[in-house]
Amino acid sequence: MTASSKARVAVVTGGAGGIGAACVARLREDGWKVAVLDKNMDLGREVAAKYGAVAAEIDLAQPDSIADSARWVERELGPCSGLAAVAAHLENPHRPENQDAAEWAAILNVNLTGTFRTLVEFGKPMLAAGGGSIVTVGSITAFNSSPLQAYGPTKAAIVNMSRNFAGAWGRQNVRVNCVCPGPTRTPAVEASYARGERNPETMIRQTALGRLVKPEQVAAAIAFLLSDDAGAITGIELPVDAGTLIGQLWGMYGGLPQPPSD
Ligand SMILES: NC(=O)c1ccc[n+]([C@@H]2O[C@H](COP(=O)([O-])OP(=O)(O)OC[C@H]3O[C@@H](n4cnc5c(N)ncnc54)[C@H](O)[C@@H]3O)[C@@H](O)[C@H]2O)c1
Repeated sequence: MTASSKARVAVVTGGAGGIGAACVARLREDGWKVAVLDKNMDLGREVAAKYGAVAAEIDLAQPDSIADSARWVERELGPCSGLAAVAAHLENPHRPENQDAAEWAAILNVNLTGTFRTLVEFGKPMLAAGGGSIVTVGSITAFNSSPLQAYGPTKAAIVNMSRNFAGAWGRQNVRVNCVCPGPTRTPAVEASYARGERNPETMIRQTALGRLVKPEQVAAAIAFLLSDDAGAITGIELPVDAGTLIGQLWGMYGGLPQPPSD
């Protein structure tokens, strides 16, 4: 347990999802009191019950819902000093000319506007209290071209937005960092593999380490950045991607070294 985080209050938006639930588990292990906030309340309640957290509904597409949730957490658990802004609207690969307009709007509204409002609503009490720590969740799609036409740009914006907040709030002792996962084996991604929308083998070939990321590995990075052990760190992006980003140029030279075939 990180002594510095003992009994403090952390919020995990998207806490019902694969990476979010792993964050709830890890933050509880580290001694935080945790609020699971998610649109999916069936799963949200399940995760909260499993790890001894509390749960409430939030819809990042609704500004009032975000403000109401911030007040609910304060009433239920006390002042929040840690925020893991994990919730996002995911997307399947497609060509830009095939982008569905309603899905474009929904992804921007949740990932971009919703994340911005989440940081503002949960950050304001941290500013008033004289400190706190926020971790946003970007993606390696923020840094390069991908077939995720709306999702990728929102993740690039989250990287930029996190730096903006870090600059604005540093003197009030509120740190803001961004964890950028690579392909992570969550239940949703596993289901996408099963439906044939993504291929785990082609993804593994693109990683230097030759394996995909586990949700608890992303959660460990988030927990570290939320803790006082990261007290000198703000405004960074931390890829947790099994070496996917650093492997990109290897494609021009025949690809990353692969295990020898028998
Ligand atoms: N799994 C990966 O490979 C991967 C890679 C890079 C980045 N990420 C990022 O990690 C984070 C977690 O993703 P995940 O893989 O655990 O996906 P997930 O689908 O399991 O979790 C996302 C959660 O967000 C919630 N959510 C969606 N829309 C919402 C809304 N409007 N309001 C409130 N909650 C909402 C969902 O109900 C779900 O519980 C996301 O930000 C995602 O973009 C994931």
